[in-house]
Amino acid sequence: MSQEWDAGRLDSDLDGVAFDTLAVRAGQHRTPEGEHGDPMFFTSSYVFRTAADAAARFAGEVPGNVYSRYTNPTVRAFEERIAALEGAEQAVATATGMAAIMAVVMSLCSAGDHVLVSRSVFGSTISLFEKYFKRFGIEVDYVPLADLSGWDAAIKANTKLLFVESPSNPLAELVDIAALSEVAHAKGAMLVVDNCFCTPALQQPLKLGADVVVHSATKFIDGQGRCMGGVVAGRAEQMKEVVGFLRTAGPTLSPFNAWIFLKGLETLSLRMKAHCANAQALAEWLEQQDGIEK
Ligand SMILES: Cc1ncc(COP(=O)(O)O)c(C=O)c1O
Repeated sequence: MSQEWDAGRLDSDLDGVAFDTLAVRAGQHRTPEGEHGDPMFFTSSYVFRTAADAAARFAGEVPGNVYSRYTNPTVRAFEERIAALEGAEQAVATATGMAAIMAVVMSLCSAGDHVLVSRSVFGSTISLFEKYFKRFGIEVDYVPLADLSGWDAAIKANTKLLFVESPSNPLAELVDIAALSEVAHAKGAMLVVDNCFCTPALQQPLKLGADVVVHSATKFIDGQGRCMGGVVAGRAEQMKEVVGFLRTAGPTLSPFNAWIFLKGLETLSLRMKAHCANAQALAEWLEQQDGIEK
């Protein structure tokens, strides 16, 4: 029989620790077993001591899990770790990167709202806006990514969101996120940044003024091509809406994938340094080749 102890006293004290420690420790709440690694909670639902306890938890009167579409401890560990790395008040995990983008727009926009999207975004993101959101009455226009005055001129009274990827997929174009967030906020719009390619190891858009960050965790956060997932991070006020949508609509992350991503985050910083060094060496080599202009 396992020894009963206060799990809380085994958790790491993370006040003021650096990024690399957060990438390994943030979000880890040890169970009474005192495990070193992150545990996997494979459970669809949870048990209650009494019917009254169940009723109170379902009503949200007392904290605790009720159903894994709403909360799961392994998924929560991943969400808390990403929130710590992105400097977000809260993060919520999704089944894929596209589910993260869908959740942001479904929860923060309504019919009649206008969204400005960078011309340089992933193909499925364009399809989501063009083929689906437009059908539900959301107006969509496109702006060249780096054109700050173009963004400013395109904002209308009903513009709710500006959506960018920086660096973009596949051309690695960039925008000045701090300057663009000022453009958005001056006219009452929110800036959403898909931070898939930099990851928080290289860029933390919320600290530059963005309101919401989305990720395809499928890419560098996993880093080893094992599973699909996504995440949305931001301020508690907006995240409440995103969490509400995800809990109801259902494209939540599986605990197995969350555990894989927790392991991916442990090596994120080292891997991103290696990716940058490789890219630099390749760029320098290409510059020396006669057949290469740019
Ligand atoms: C920048 C970017 N955002 C979002 C996505 C979508 O992510 P997922 O494939 O996890 O749905 C991708 C996928 O390639 C991407 O490159």
